[in-house]
Amino acid sequence: MEQTKKTIAFACDHGGYILKDAILAHVRDKGYDVLDFGTDSTARCEYPDHGEPACRAVVAGKADLAILVCGTGIGMSLIANKIHGIRAACCSEPYSAKMTRCHNDANVLCIGARVVGEGPALDIVDAFLDHAFEGGRHAERVARIMEVEKRG
Ligand code: RB5
Repeated sequence: MEQTKKTIAFACDHGGYILKDAILAHVRDKGYDVLDFGTDSTARCEYPDHGEPACRAVVAGKADLAILVCGTGIGMSLIANKIHGIRAACCSEPYSAKMTRCHNDANVLCIGARVVGEGPALDIVDAFLDHAFEGGRHAERVARIMEVEKRG
């Protein structure tokens, strides 16, 4: 049976623009469809304005996962985790990126362009995209997280 191509949403601010473009090209080369929510230059902008629509695309089912890049990755992870249905992880090495897919069912990866260089960033992205949620005992834990979100 033919597998549907997965779609990855992207967003960045001025601090993450150059790395976001490199990651987007890499992800496209891996065979994914991409949705780019900008920004599209190094001109100063506000990361929530770009991060939010990328996360909304995930929640709406228009994208399977999102990758957000800002200077530290932290601002993007903060805005992403405000959105119901999003589990965002800010990662600066591949092991955490793999485990947050396998155990936390993270659906958004955040990377700091001022923290990691392009080579390590692509390894982080591969670790995130090449692994899947394991379910089992982790499903119960993720369900608890989502219950907390529901309670507000
Ligand atoms: C922008 O200078 C910087 O604050 C932003 O990219 C990010 O690091 C915020 O968390």
